[in-house]
Amino acid sequence: MAATVLHFLSLTFFLIHFSTAFTPQDNYLINCGSSTNTLVDENRHFTGESSENGLSYLSKGKSISLTNPIPSSNSSVLYSTARVFISVSSYKFNIKNVGFHLVRLHFSPFSSPDYDLKNANFVVSANGKSLLSNFSAHFTMLKEFILMVNKEELEILFTPTRDSNFAYVNAIEVFSAPKDFIIDEGMTLISPNGIQDFKQNISSKILETVHRINVGGSKLTPFNDTLWRNWIPDEDFLVLKSAAKIATTIHPPNYQPGGATREIAPDNVYMTAQQMNIDNRPSNFMFNITWDFPVRSEDSLHFVRLHFCDIVSIALQTLYFNVYINGKMAFKDLDLSVLTFHELASPTFVDFVVQSSDNSNVVQISVGPSDLSNSLRKNAILNGVEIMKIVNPVGSEKRSKTKRIWILVGSVGGGSFLLSLAILSTLLVLKCRRRKPKPRRVESTGWTPLRAYGGSSHGTLLEGAVLGYGLKIPFADLQLATNNFDKSLIIGSGGFGIVYKGILQENIRVAVKRRVPGNKQGLPEFQTEITVLSRIRHHHLVSLVGYCEEQSEMILVYEYMEKGPLRNHLYGSRLPPLSWKQRLEICIGAARGLHYLHTGSAHGIIHRDIKSTNILLDYNYVAKVADFGLSKSGPCLDETHVSTGVKGSFGYLDPEYFRRQQLTDKSDVYSFGVVLFEVLCARPAVDPLLDREQVHLGEWAMEWQKKGMVEHIVDPRVRGQIKPSSLKKFGETAEKCLADYGIDRPTMGDVLWNLEHALRLQESEIQIDSQVETDITSVSHASPRFVPTVHSSSVGVEEDNDNVSSDITTSRVFSQLITNEGR
Ligand SMILES: *[C@@H]1O[C@H](CO)[C@@H](O)[C@H](O)[C@H]1NC(C)=O
Ligand SMILES: *[C@@H]1O[C@H](CO)[C@@H](O)[C@H](O)[C@H]1NC(C)=O
Ligand SMILES: *[C@@H]1O[C@H](CO)[C@@H](O)[C@H](O)[C@H]1NC(C)=O
Ligand SMILES: *[C@@H]1O[C@H](CO)[C@@H](O)[C@H](O)[C@H]1NC(C)=O
Ligand SMILES: *[C@@H]1O[C@H](CO)[C@@H](O)[C@H](O)[C@H]1NC(C)=O
Repeated sequence: MAATVLHFLSLTFFLIHFSTAFTPQDNYLINCGSSTNTLVDENRHFTGESSENGLSYLSKGKSISLTNPIPSSNSSVLYSTARVFISVSSYKFNIKNVGFHLVRLHFSPFSSPDYDLKNANFVVSANGKSLLSNFSAHFTMLKEFILMVNKEELEILFTPTRDSNFAYVNAIEVFSAPKDFIIDEGMTLISPNGIQDFKQNISSKILETVHRINVGGSKLTPFNDTLWRNWIPDEDFLVLKSAAKIATTIHPPNYQPGGATREIAPDNVYMTAQQMNIDNRPSNFMFNITWDFPVRSEDSLHFVRLHFCDIVSIALQTLYFNVYINGKMAFKDLDLSVLTFHELASPTFVDFVVQSSDNSNVVQISVGPSDLSNSLRKNAILNGVEIMKIVNPVGSEKRSKTKRIWILVGSVGGGSFLLSLAILSTLLVLKCRRRKPKPRRVESTGWTPLRAYGGSSHGTLLEGAVLGYGLKIPFADLQLATNNFDKSLIIGSGGFGIVYKGILQENIRVAVKRRVPGNKQGLPEFQTEITVLSRIRHHHLVSLVGYCEEQSEMILVYEYMEKGPLRNHLYGSRLPPLSWKQRLEICIGAARGLHYLHTGSAHGIIHRDIKSTNILLDYNYVAKVADFGLSKSGPCLDETHVSTGVKGSFGYLDPEYFRRQQLTDKSDVYSFGVVLFEVLCARPAVDPLLDREQVHLGEWAMEWQKKGMVEHIVDPRVRGQIKPSSLKKFGETAEKCLADYGIDRPTMGDVLWNLEHALRLQESEIQIDSQVETDITSVSHASPRFVPTVHSSSVGVEEDNDNVSSDITTSRVFSQLITNEGR
């Protein structure tokens, strides 16, 4: 039946014709300032400006052609020349095909003895509408505009400003957009006030491309695109990378009449997507995938086009999801099969006009599961995004009924029951979403007031604690930093609370850890955390930026670690593998941090929850140990937290702890040994899906190590890089750490020294002879020169003030093993 409907549809309403290559009716490609024609991207002929051809497009004004005296060998030949305008000048193009056109202006600011193009400052307009004002470029850039040309001529005018007295351009492209490239009617406006019809006319405006993203895919060049566009990958825009997982297909999209065409976006955009990453999560887990696309805060109006193609479902009507733009429900319970006339893997797109709130500098897109998909596997996808700034939002005409709806209603008349159902549901969706705009609620999480915990008040909460008062951060600042604890900024959560990514004033990126409401043990632990954390500062420990204890909130603010947990770089993600040298450096860094915890100025702190998710990496892959202060946090009585907590860290637990119910710093050494094997083998500490003897990494790896065959279990991605001597040293170090009895394990200082040795062995050309290769036991209690220098500065705390750290070494604190989930 669907086939019949489609056939009927394509005959009656959609006489769109596909051809493999798009040939625009108007097509002007000018290599400005050059006298020769140039072939670009194998099929695009840019005309030079010799007097017999392209020069005739120059219409008025005084200009000269300029050649880059030192052309860059790797940049486009288009950028080796420019036309420099020394008075108001223009290009004029005849337009055969009235309608939307794409205009691309290429700027590459080279300098010559006469002109330094970086100093140019000018205005560009098209048929009197301003494209660029007060424009100057400091690096090569391509400006792309989409505009309606409704007369038979397009004049592009360059006006130098008084500051510079000249303007320039390196290349110009003007070509007609494909038919129905932008359907200028029935557009929805998403604004901070809600969702409504966009009552203006895009044709009267100019769109300037800001982002063009191939979600889940690779960079696409003009060569890959029938409209010669650039598409870039989405990864850098994902707010939480681990929320998304790439989906790809090898099958070309199933283009359907009425849906997207190759000109709307190339095949490659529709053949990849991001979908919800539900690995290691229960299938009913609800979360969004969110992208933040930066925009200039002074530009408040954008045209947003979202591309979809269901390449993840195996059957129709199994995928329902919600689409949010700037936190507003743009599409509820979206069923792509409705938009694509019941075809799978059929590309489609939706357009919105988005008005951002003042000072907002991102357009935020989220997709997340719909309640409708309750009984099914939840998923949500996105294949592509285009964001264009609406340059001159002027004029407001009353629009007539939308073309799309007319087409649809027409086809209902044609007698298709199936289709009318589809339309009905689409209309219902539209109705629903318009009737129920969801204003953002002010978050009220309902902490039990502090008074409930034995009469503490703000004044006395931290009384007696030794604190750097400079660390106090007002709650309002944290609300601002996290967009009022926006769910899309969550980067972690667990029994202790939720961690948000945030940006403080002065652009300081931070991780904001907010206590869950109702954590009964919260207060004393919070206090201790601040006290402890504020006095330990070390390059390899994640540092405390501040805290907040206003309004019964308990919030800790840490430095933001760009690259996230070490674990994500080892397995279970699509991050590129770390080299062996990087892994060694990371282990060395973490060992340094731990060594400092055990012996440094804050000495005597046992971390008690060392694992690969608690070793975080900064932008430069420098390892920092996190969550050391949380060893003080009390048990969380919530049953689920308890069980997952135990599971989460189980593989790292010191067996001696079970026997003696007492933790020492050697318990951290044991856990660290497990991390070392994790780094070596790139697999989880516990993997219940493996064969019995392989489930526990510690036990399994120890067997191979003891047999002297550890090379068999090395991560295949680094196996070839590791020098045997380095591997031997590393394996022995990990083995010692995993000794059954704490007394047989090395100190963190010894571990550190041995790891550094493994790094030297890896880096040295010549095999270091065995005499130098000291055995771990013989460096136990090594002379001080092996102990790394510790750079510490305590914050407003006397070095000898030990009344806090003495608290921390007791087993009373560290026997609380059940609160470590999710850190
Ligand atoms: C061209 O090479 C220079 C230096 O060799 C480099 O800085 C620049 O990024 C390169 N440009 C492109 C487009 O590859
Ligand atoms: C033009 O831009 C420059 C910086 O590029 C800025 O300093 C100047 O104030 C701007 N002038 C106007 C009139 O906007
Ligand atoms: C895109 O075009 C380049 C040539 O510019 C080609 O090497 C590459 O394979 C193409 N990519 C895809 C995904 O088609
Ligand atoms: C997804 O994001 C929207 C808008 O920010 C929010 O209202 C919704 O609760 C989020 N859904 C989940 C499951 O986090
Ligand atoms: C939108 O504007 C264009 C050009 O200004 C005009 O031709 C067209 O009729 C307008 N459309 C509507 C629905 O007003």
